[in-house]
Amino acid sequence: MSDELASILAGLRRPQKTISPKYFYDEAGSRLFEEITRLPEYYLTATELGIMQAHIGEMADLIGERASLIEFGAGSGMKTRMLLQHMHSPAVYVPVDISGDHLIDSQRSIQADFPDVEVIPVAADFLHPFELPRPRTMPLRNVVYFPGSTIGNFEYEDALRLLRVMHTEAADGGALLIGADLQKDPAVIEAAYNDGAGVTARFNLNMLRHLNREFGSDFDLDAFEHRATYDRDERRVVVELVSRRRQVVAIGGAQIPFGEGESIVTEYSHKYSLDGFAGMAGEAGFAVERVWTDPRRWFSVHYCTRP
Ligand code: AVJ
Repeated sequence: MSDELASILAGLRRPQKTISPKYFYDEAGSRLFEEITRLPEYYLTATELGIMQAHIGEMADLIGERASLIEFGAGSGMKTRMLLQHMHSPAVYVPVDISGDHLIDSQRSIQADFPDVEVIPVAADFLHPFELPRPRTMPLRNVVYFPGSTIGNFEYEDALRLLRVMHTEAADGGALLIGADLQKDPAVIEAAYNDGAGVTARFNLNMLRHLNREFGSDFDLDAFEHRATYDRDERRVVVELVSRRRQVVAIGGAQIPFGEGESIVTEYSHKYSLDGFAGMAGEAGFAVERVWTDPRRWFSVHYCTRP
């Protein structure tokens, strides 16, 4: 049995069943996420983009000349392009992703639009330190970029581990530019994960279709429903797939029983305070040099340096 299947089974055998949110992102899932970012209720993407638009000049000045931009999670999106467009003679762009397909797409589209930037895709699981390729020209600074509040998917200890990997990859004199969603009225947060058009529900359920295809499981998509609730004590959204009835699901030769109403947690999305985020970054060795928010203080972008 593959390590991947073994860890999925381990998650399904816990008292609170869990499956990693990385299984959202097959081709259909990536398309559905794109659709989520355009939903009126999903304020995260538009708000972060607004912050970038308002402060891109200052961001570029802090990043400085001839930097290497190292993006955790292959990007080619608007925010990445905006950064590369405004950075002062950007030297290198390094998209880092587990999926080779995402990397090739990202490399193609960025290289075509930024012919003077050396694009070096790296296939790596960025939860563990990895070797950065040696670029043709030595950058003056490494800047790790992690937009979208994807950090919020990780529980505290794992987020810290990830920030420490970023600290390593930033190297001496390097920095981290990172987006983090902020605590706010729970009704606003819950609406963002329970959109009226039902796209988030389809995104969540698509994980089961992905597992069926990839691992030969027999999840019945009609037998589960989407749920997303804000846990005020833990300050995080809990995204779940709830079993509509008693049932048994076959996966990897195992039989996983579900009670009626029993759930699989498919994602956490942590919401931060500015101080809380700075404290966590500090524990990983970063100092928050500058933070930008939108007028409603719904989202934040932090420029962190290695002191
Ligand atoms: C991509 C992890 C930032 O947590 O808001 C969107 C994923 N899940 N709707 C988030 C997501 C449900 C998203 N991140």
